[in-house]
This record gives sequence, structure tokens and C-alpha cells, in this order.
Amino acid sequence: MPMCIAIDGPAGSGKSTVGERLARKLGYLYVDTGAMYRAVTWLALEDHIALDNGPALEQLARHAEIVISHPHIADGRQYTVTVHGHDVTWDIRNTSVTRAVSTVSAHPEVRSILIAQQRAMAKQGHVVMVGRDIGAVVLPDAEYKLYLTASLEERARRRYIELEERFGAQNPALPPFEEILNDIRRRDDVDRDNMQPAPDAIIVMTDHLNVEQVLDFICHQLEVLA
Ligand code: DC
Repeated sequence: MPMCIAIDGPAGSGKSTVGERLARKLGYLYVDTGAMYRAVTWLALEDHIALDNGPALEQLARHAEIVISHPHIADGRQYTVTVHGHDVTWDIRNTSVTRAVSTVSAHPEVRSILIAQQRAMAKQGHVVMVGRDIGAVVLPDAEYKLYLTASLEERARRRYIELEERFGAQNPALPPFEEILNDIRRRDDVDRDNMQPAPDAIIVMTDHLNVEQVLDFICHQLEVLA
């Protein structure tokens, strides 16, 4: 069985759901690196740091005490994220963080700090790490690399359903579908430079696959590899 599994893909490709389920099935540590970029972004917004101020964001990332741990509250969370001891698990998913995170994560200074932390987390092995650049940059030696993708419309549809389930269909906090689609399109554009499949990644188009089918595919591949 591979020690390190890298799963990359754009927003809404299903990588977090698949990654978490796979990690649970294998008894591996699940690390969602997007949560780390989101936590730094949340801090930057709290501290009113300009999103184009690379050196200030670098300092922030360097000193941020971000801890991702097993979920301790059963409210639908995959994990608990704290920043300096403060539970930000849901705050990092809010619209302002989601809109700002691509700008923050585009700073190479921020990336190099978080990438070093991600490599340290993976060192012990038995990890499923999910993100944009895991197979290509963070863990180029990972034994199994997947790149999940789906059309823009399908990814927006999934995000809409996820938010509808969380907020309820009548909740004014639920953004219109068009807004979600435009946000994902804009994030794809900003994230593009840091989002490439590794040359040895298996690319899976998930438009017509549900989570179970993607998991079955992966488990079959892992059996072949074992
Ligand atoms: O997967 P997500 O939507 O939670 O990721 C949030 C943002 O973080 C995404 O817009 C791009 C960035 N990100 C990144 O640049 N590299 C990663 N390994 C993970 C996320």
C-alpha cells in the first residue's frame, strides 16, 4: 500500500470528500491543504492585512499556529481547524475567505511556508494529502497520485447542493447558482499557475461519477498496486 497518496484537483472536483473517505477507509491521516491556505487568509482578513502585501502575509503564515485535528463536534465537519487556539472550522469556509484565498495562496512566500509544513506532516507516512499541487510540488515522490476534475458547471452544481444542504434552500445566505459558478471560474483563473497534474498522476474526469464510484476506482487501483 502506498505510504503517501496525493489527490489534486480544482474547486468542486470532489477531492476533499473522496480524500477524507479514502483516508478513513485506509486508517490514514487526512490532510486538506486548502484549509491551511484558508486559515492564513482568515487571519489576514481579521488582521486587516492587504492581500497584495506579500511580506506581511509571509510573516503571518510563518507565525500562524494552525492546527488541523480530528473533528470534536458532530456538526458535519471533516476535521477541526484552530488558529491560535480559536476554532475557525466554519469561518474559513465563509464567502469572504473563499473570495480572498486564491490571492493569498498566489504569494510564493506564503506557499513555501505552508509547503514546508505539509512535507513535515507527510513525513511519518500513511497520509492522504489533498490540494492543488501535492503530486507535482509538495510530494513529488508520493507513490499514488490522482488528479480529479469535472466541468465548471458540474463543480458549481455540486457546490450549490453542498451549500443548500448546509444552509437550507430558503436561507438568504445561500448564494444564487450563477454567483457560485462565477466565483469558481474566477478562482480557477487565479489558481491556474499553482494547479498542474503531476506527469505521473492518474487523471479522473468525475462529471458522470459519484463519490462511491470514484472510491471504487481508487480502491481497485490500489489493489492492483499492492
Ligand atoms: O480546496 P479549497 O477550495 O479549500 O482551497 C482553497 C484555496 O487554496 C484554493 O483557491 C487554492 C488554494 N490552494 C493552493 O493554492 N494549493 C493547495 N495545495 C491547496 C489549496
